[in-house]
Amino acid sequence: NEGKLWGGRFASGPSPELDALSRSTHFDWRLALYDIAGSHAHAKALGAAGLLTATDEVELHRGLDLLAQRFTDGTLRPSESDEDVHGALERLLLDEVGPEVGGRLRAGRSRNDQIATLFRCYLLDHADTISSLVLDLVNALAQQADAHMGAIMPGRTHLQHAQPVLLSHHLLAHAWPLMRDVGRLADWRRRVIGSSPYGSGALAGQSLGLDPELVARELGFTGSIENSIDGTASRDFVAEFAYVAAQIGVDVSRLAEEVILWSTREFDFVTLHDSWSTGSSIMPQKKNPDISELARGKAGRLIGNVSGLLATLKALPLAYNRDLQEDKEPVFDSVDTLEVLLPAFTGQIATLVFNTERMAVLAPQGFSLATDIAEWLVREGVPFREAHELAGACVRAAEGRGVELDALTDGEFAAISAHLTPDVRAVLTADGSVRSRNGRGGTAPERVQEQLGQLQRAAEEA
Ligand code: ARG
Repeated sequence: NEGKLWGGRFASGPSPELDALSRSTHFDWRLALYDIAGSHAHAKALGAAGLLTATDEVELHRGLDLLAQRFTDGTLRPSESDEDVHGALERLLLDEVGPEVGGRLRAGRSRNDQIATLFRCYLLDHADTISSLVLDLVNALAQQADAHMGAIMPGRTHLQHAQPVLLSHHLLAHAWPLMRDVGRLADWRRRVIGSSPYGSGALAGQSLGLDPELVARELGFTGSIENSIDGTASRDFVAEFAYVAAQIGVDVSRLAEEVILWSTREFDFVTLHDSWSTGSSIMPQKKNPDISELARGKAGRLIGNVSGLLATLKALPLAYNRDLQEDKEPVFDSVDTLEVLLPAFTGQIATLVFNTERMAVLAPQGFSLATDIAEWLVREGVPFREAHELAGACVRAAEGRGVELDALTDGEFAAISAHLTPDVRAVLTADGSVRSRNGRGGTAPERVQEQLGQLQRAAEEA
């Protein structure tokens, strides 16, 4: 029964077809170092419970260290006959320390509590990696915001010109959701870090006097899980991680979509850096925003991973079911996807060159200062309902003449309303409009500067 963790009660070995279906080493091998760390900790717990002699324990640690070394060197491989990472590592450990000592390690643990623990360890590490990659993107956005403080662009709703805003304000509006994603990963970590499932056994706990708290601390957890059935059967920690990964993908995709639009001939708001854009095999002139398109596409894949996983978990009875083996590939894929996507995306954002002149020219166009007329009238004592009508009449007049609002003559304004004195011109520039929106969170330069500072502090503290 080479590489098998079971077999005593079976008269015949598994069929090759079953083996092929059951095997998971091609994806769970990436957990090998976590499995080895779990085994070190478990050996200590066995030693502390008097179930291993001191020499046996030393021998196990030596064998495990050797496996870890070989894994790091790339020479440790599972064989065709290994079912999963746990079985493969036990076989390899037995090769090293012999069946007498090696055969003692499995007492009081099950692959069910092992895998639930190792997967947490793996995701805890990658949550940190992803968190810092998201922070790199936040910092790239903050740097671009800082470098363009004062530049004005058309702010949009429904993709139509709405009101002028600062480019920095807009860029920071992409950074804040990403900061919340970093916060989501931190929340997730707080829930996971205190619940090491080791000691849950197959489902009912263990009878050998092992200390799950010792194992938990050895593995970097702050405590062990309260309920052994929950410890082996629940995967909400996986689904939550996959959701946060998908949310990061979605947040990135929204910025990606804008980069794609901005780099079109029609918008012409940005130029992509040569090192962060791609060419065409047939059209020599092309410079394509492939990074952003891949970001947009990969968001769909990240959403698929979390939906698929939830479908797997739905209505699963307690406790462990083999269905749960299907929890790994989607989430490994989410991890791999973000870890390859985020550095490229950040590079593209950090090197974007903004055509601020064009943005400034377009900012007041499309009657985007109409609200400013209405609000100016309100400050002059006109009820907003009437002010809205009067500003609308200004738009109609300007549209009829094919000009922007600031081209209306004093006479045209006066003909619309006696309230519309030439003083209204003070708000008929994009600059005046932006400066006037100085409430908290608004687009006035001092407010945007203020929130840039808040964001940078939040990113530093994260
Ligand atoms: N490879 C399994 C998983 O990923 C762990 C093994 C548990 N297998 C079992 N037959 N109880 O969930």
